[in-house]
Amino acid sequence: MDQTLHDRLNAHLQLEFEAAHRYLSMALWLERIDLPGFGAWLRGQSADELSHAHRIIDHLADRDLLVRIPEIPAQPTEWESPEAAVAAILESEQRVTRAIADLYDLSEKVHDRAASIMLQWFVNEQVEEENVARTLLGRLRLVGGDGVGMLMIDQELAKGTVPGAMAEAGANGAE
Ligand SMILES: [Fe+2]
Ligand SMILES: [Fe+2]
Repeated sequence: MDQTLHDRLNAHLQLEFEAAHRYLSMALWLERIDLPGFGAWLRGQSADELSHAHRIIDHLADRDLLVRIPEIPAQPTEWESPEAAVAAILESEQRVTRAIADLYDLSEKVHDRAASIMLQWFVNEQVEEENVARTLLGRLRLVGGDGVGMLMIDQELAKGTVPGAMAEAGANGAE
């Protein structure tokens, strides 16, 4: 594998692991403020992010390439509001989408077809991840912090019936 691509795939692990830790910390905070549906959804998202890191780790390991497990900084333990937390999720997913696009471009530039195919999965996954975060953020803005509205969204998340989040919840963190 091209050295730069190898280094950047290793560097990308940081983003996936950090998202896993941040989403878990968010899940715990949301459970503390009595939004267990949000918590359950985010625990699933956290597990998804770990599985993303493992996809890259397995790809490198399968090709007998060195994997460096990154150091992950401590994460916040609370956020301003659930809306602020979901806005942070959308921002973080958009950042990951850009990072994946750069990795994909690089893999094509160096003609690494196996890496391109592996990364193609991530390109599709990011469309879903952004869609879910954007849909949820839109719904949170609609209720504008209203308690009853929040409880309704929380119940939808617990049942896995938030539009866009449906497929993900149904898959129960399989990806
Ligand atoms: Fe991810
Ligand atoms: Fe993600």
